[in-house]
Amino acid sequence: MTALPDWNPRGPRVRRDPIAAYDEMRSQCPVARGPSGAWTLFTHADVTAAAVDHQTYSNAVSAHLQVPNGLDEAVHTAFRSVVDRYFTRERMRALEPAMERVAADLVSRLEMPGVIDAVAIGSRFAVRAQSMWLGWPAALEEELLEWIGDNHAATRSRDRTRTAAVAQRFDEIIRSLTDSRRKAGDAAPDDVTTELVRDRVDGRPLTDEEIVSILRNWTGGDLGSIALCTGVILNYLAEHSHVQDRLRSGISTREFDAILDEILRIDDPFVSNRRVVTDTVTVGDRTLQAGDRVILNWTAANRDPRIFGDSEQFEPETNAPYNLVYGIGKHVCPGRPLATLELRALTRAVLESTSRIESDPERPPQRARPPVGGFATAAIRLV
Ligand code: HEM
Repeated sequence: MTALPDWNPRGPRVRRDPIAAYDEMRSQCPVARGPSGAWTLFTHADVTAAAVDHQTYSNAVSAHLQVPNGLDEAVHTAFRSVVDRYFTRERMRALEPAMERVAADLVSRLEMPGVIDAVAIGSRFAVRAQSMWLGWPAALEEELLEWIGDNHAATRSRDRTRTAAVAQRFDEIIRSLTDSRRKAGDAAPDDVTTELVRDRVDGRPLTDEEIVSILRNWTGGDLGSIALCTGVILNYLAEHSHVQDRLRSGISTREFDAILDEILRIDDPFVSNRRVVTDTVTVGDRTLQAGDRVILNWTAANRDPRIFGDSEQFEPETNAPYNLVYGIGKHVCPGRPLATLELRALTRAVLESTSRIESDPERPPQRARPPVGGFATAAIRLV
């Protein structure tokens, strides 16, 4: 007899109020089997333990090549060392002025006073910031924006044909950019995409498939995340004027970044990642078998009262060491320095060109539909 599922990650309870539903699951059924048979882990301890146990919890969850996130062990390590080179402190420092210009230019075109959708602004900013970083043409902006929307819709639909078509379209965009650089040879522009096209792993050139996969991972995953993070951050500032005041008070970059991380901990829009179990393992009072699918719910883990006390309590310094927004273990987000730079640049630009960020009582924020986290729209008033 097949056991009844413990919960439905896309059911009405989760759709109504995802954060409250995850909190409830964490306290009532912390290791829960869904209708597909996949297990979701909700507590900070279980999510952390699974994320750092790379032997028992494999990342080989997809039939498609996913560099580096779908790789395990030595192959993963080799590709991680390629990827990590693009996010060094020196590179991020060099990128900062250009990133600030992208943010300032975008914000200077907003009507003030006026109402904006923080998620839509975040999407546009993400596309411009990434295009600037990778050396992609501005002419791609609308196509990439349309792609973000279609990608979220395809994820929600669970229609594999639709998801595959959206992924295919993205690969075609990327391939046209890498092909043109290969053809140009020495005349190729001096940018990150060209560098990647010429990069090597384990002493051999990267294959086309690997390059496309890396770029897909950098852009496909990131564009949506930056948009959702922007929605969460600006909405939080609109609702918490004392935090906004603190950010406006000339604090250090370190404190500024810690505040953004803490806002994202409280309402983490990067909800989950997947694993597959390689051996029988007991989690809490449940036994998972080799081949079982596992979902690490970062959003729930980041609000676990056993670690954070009152989950809503805003404590950037105290909570930083336990914050899982960018993951933990070997697969911890390599793009964190870039994401932090982007989010800081945009938030600063908005703060610098306004005296207040306020909620719009006429239009409360609308949650995104699970499994997408954060908000679908977050209207905020810029004064
Ligand atoms: C916007 C905010 C972002 C958040 C909240 C975020 C979050 C995460 C998390 C939680 C993981 C761990 C995944 C796992 O354990 O399975 C991860 C991995 C990853 N992230 Fe990010 N990320 C963000 C932005 C970025 C950016 C800007 C890039 C690159 C341009 C990036 C590239 C990656 C890659 C390549 C991995 C896979 C690493 C591996 O498997 O070794 N992310 N990210």
